[in-house]
Amino acid sequence: MDLEKIKKESIEAVDQCQSLVSLEETSRHYLGKKGEISLAFQKITQEPIDQRKKLGQALNEIKKNLEQAIEKKKTALQEKSFDEKSKENKIDVNQPGKKFSLGHLHPLSKVVRQVEDIFQLMGFSIAEGPELETEYYNFDALNIPADHPARDVWDTFWLANSKKGQKTLLRTHTSPNQVRYMEKNNPPIRIIVPGICYRHEATDNSHGFQFMQIEGLMVGEKVSLANFKAVIEKFCTMFFGAETAIRILPDYFPFTEPSLEISIQDKKGNWLEIMGAGLVHPNVFKSVGYNPYEWQGFAFGMGVERLAMIKYGLDDIRMLYQGDLRLIRQF
Ligand code: FA5
Repeated sequence: MDLEKIKKESIEAVDQCQSLVSLEETSRHYLGKKGEISLAFQKITQEPIDQRKKLGQALNEIKKNLEQAIEKKKTALQEKSFDEKSKENKIDVNQPGKKFSLGHLHPLSKVVRQVEDIFQLMGFSIAEGPELETEYYNFDALNIPADHPARDVWDTFWLANSKKGQKTLLRTHTSPNQVRYMEKNNPPIRIIVPGICYRHEATDNSHGFQFMQIEGLMVGEKVSLANFKAVIEKFCTMFFGAETAIRILPDYFPFTEPSLEISIQDKKGNWLEIMGAGLVHPNVFKSVGYNPYEWQGFAFGMGVERLAMIKYGLDDIRMLYQGDLRLIRQF
C-alpha cells in the first residue's frame, strides 16, 4: 500500500483548489464515505497482521493532516472571496456603519397614554367606540333631539350612505360612548374613552376639523360634583404639575345638568378651555334604562390637543398635525 502517494496527492489536490466548491469536492474525494482514505482503511485489513497497526496509525495521521489542511484552505478561500466581493461592491470595511435612527411616539400619543395612566391609577378603565356614529348615539340618546338648537354647536360631517332611515355621521364628540357603555354595563361605572372626533368647522390656532377627545364617565349611587372636582383637580396636578391654576365656569350641554367648562392657565397666563363636563342628565340615564332616582354621575370630554398645547407650550394646534420633525423631535 502506497500511503506516501495518498499523502502527497491529497495535500497537492487541496493546494490546487481555487474555490470553495472544488475544495468541497476534493474533501469528499479523499474523506467521503467511499473516498480514497476510507478505501485505504479497508485495504489495510488485507495486509499482513503485524503490519496493520503501523499502517493504521500512519493512515490516521495522514487523515488528520489532510483535515487540517482542508480547514486552513477553507479559511483562506473564504477570506479571498470576501475581499473580492468587497472590491466588486466597493465595500470599504473601514468606513463606519450606517446609523439607524429610532423613532418615538408622537406628542399626542404620549398625552393620551399619560392621561390613561393617571385615570387608571384612580380606578378608571379604558373603553372605546366607533368613529362612524349614528344620529341616535351622537345626538338623540344624549338628549339632543333633531329640532334642538344645540345641534348647531356640533357642526357635523353627515355621511351619504345612511341606512334604514338611520342617518350616519363622523362623531362630533366622544360622548356617544357614555350611552354605548351604559347600555351594555350596569353601575358602578368608571371609564375613560379616548377617540378621534370631526367637526365641519374652520380651523384656527385652537380648533381643528379633526381632533381628539377623552370622554370620562363615573356613575354610582352618590357620585356628585364634589367627586368630579376632586378627580379633575387630581388629574390636573398629576398631568400639568402642582402649581396649575384651574378655572371652573358654568356652561350648557343638553346631556349634563348642571354643566361646566374647565380651563387651564397656560405658561403665558392665558386661559384655554380643555373640557366640558357636568352631572349626567336624567334623560340620558332614561335612554339607557337606568333609574335616574337611583343613579347619578359625572361626565366630561377633554380635548387632547389642548392638553398637549398647554403642557408643551404650543400656541397653534395645527403644529401637531404638520409632521414637522423639528417640532416632533423636541418631545
Ligand atoms: C363636547 O364635545 C362635549 N361632548 C363635552 C362633554 C362631555 C360635556 C361630557 C359634558 C359631559 P365641547 O364641544 O366643548 O364639548 O368640546 C370639549 C373639548 O374638546 C373642548 O374643551 C376642547 O378642548 C376640545 N375641542 C372641541 N372642539 C375642538 C376643535 N375643533 N379642535 C380642537 N379641540 C376641540
